[in-house]
Amino acid sequence: MNVADSQAMAQALAPDYVLTARAEDADLFLINTCAIRRKSEEKVKSLLGSLRGLKKARPRLLIGVGGCVAQQEGKRLLAAAPHLDLVFGPRALPRLPELVARAGRGERPVDVELTTGMPEALCPTHPGRAQALVTIMQGCDNFCAFCVVPYVRGREESREPGAILREVAVFLAGGGLEVTLLGQNVNSYGRGLAEPVTFAQLLRSIAALPGLARLRFATSHPRDLSPELIALFGELPPLCEHLHLPVQSGSSRVLATMNRGYTREQYLERVAALRRACPDIALTTDLIVGFPGETDADFEDTLTLMQEAAFDGAYSFKYSPRPQTRAAGLPGQVSEEVKAARLARLQALQNELTLRSNSRLVGRVSEVLVEGASRRSPRELSGRLRTNQVVNFPGPPELAGRLATVELTEAHPHSLKGRWLEARSASWPLVA
Ligand code: 5AD
Ligand code: SF4
Repeated sequence: MNVADSQAMAQALAPDYVLTARAEDADLFLINTCAIRRKSEEKVKSLLGSLRGLKKARPRLLIGVGGCVAQQEGKRLLAAAPHLDLVFGPRALPRLPELVARAGRGERPVDVELTTGMPEALCPTHPGRAQALVTIMQGCDNFCAFCVVPYVRGREESREPGAILREVAVFLAGGGLEVTLLGQNVNSYGRGLAEPVTFAQLLRSIAALPGLARLRFATSHPRDLSPELIALFGELPPLCEHLHLPVQSGSSRVLATMNRGYTREQYLERVAALRRACPDIALTTDLIVGFPGETDADFEDTLTLMQEAAFDGAYSFKYSPRPQTRAAGLPGQVSEEVKAARLARLQALQNELTLRSNSRLVGRVSEVLVEGASRRSPRELSGRLRTNQVVNFPGPPELAGRLATVELTEAHPHSLKGRWLEARSASWPLVA
């Protein structure tokens, strides 16, 4: 979501500003921030501190902080950093060019207005890209007890389906292959629109657009995952066989305190329904350890749920108290040591589950959407399967942004290795 927002910022400022590869070349330095855990917030503050020297060397450089930490901290950021020129929240994007201009006149503007209405005037484009991140909604109304998002991103609002379809059609006409639809809770898409539409209906219309090879979305809330949506996984050809379904905890008691709106059993029922609709589906999740009041028994429930759901991958975090949220004031805060020990056990288990799941793929011949050179070894390419696992394989750089046929040869805990089957890849219809 933040990558999509950063792309939108760059686009809003073009052609007055273009992206540079090196900070030393920049006239404007924008930090797009995340407030989800304290650690991400601390990173912003240390990066901001490290820019002091750059500003001293080039006094005309403008420095801005945008996104959720900007929303949360507002003008306190200006007071803490005299070299900071502007502060803007996630909903100030349409006003960004004007804010930068004011910063250039020395005004030090702060815009943390939680404006309502999707900024349709800024219709993002994705020129030259094979993959597009398409925002379909903003904000969140769920108020999970641990989460700061509803406070910093405001109330949930859906974008008009017509605008979304236009954005995707333009992307596909330019040769695009993969669309990822983004929202804090895409399953509740369409509520509140003049003509309400369900998320499943939106997926059907997008999947019908010519040229689309892959369709993904994030994030789904388990409570709102409808049978209609589950059925689409066996039905819509471009819809990838992968779902990210954050469970947070395996204990129904903890889930109730978290205000998640489902029990362990209901979550596992949905997992079973997904596997019935699409036996090859890969499931990934988010997990929090050390939520206030979490006992050893609750934590064991999380470990057994992970095994029962057989997650193919998981992002896991130590609970981090956030300002304004209900959980920050709950009794039974868990010590740092206990959180760290639980996280280590949980990650060891997930590594085992992921390795097991990756090992099952070895020997298969699969389609990979190549993203570019591999980070670890520049002579290799890196891409993703439809089920979202990362695959690295030797191949020519021209394959970047294209679909390749790859034989999967080795499983690792975080990726797979493969062998490019050149002859078969050539027959892939790149764009219909
Ligand atoms: N502490 C730790 N993890 C959190 N997340 C959200 N808020 C917190 C918090 N206060 C995690 C959840 C969510 C993911 C994006 O970040 O698991 O799904
Ligand atoms: Fe946060 Fe819950 Fe909304 Fe996700 S659904 S953004 S965890 S409040």
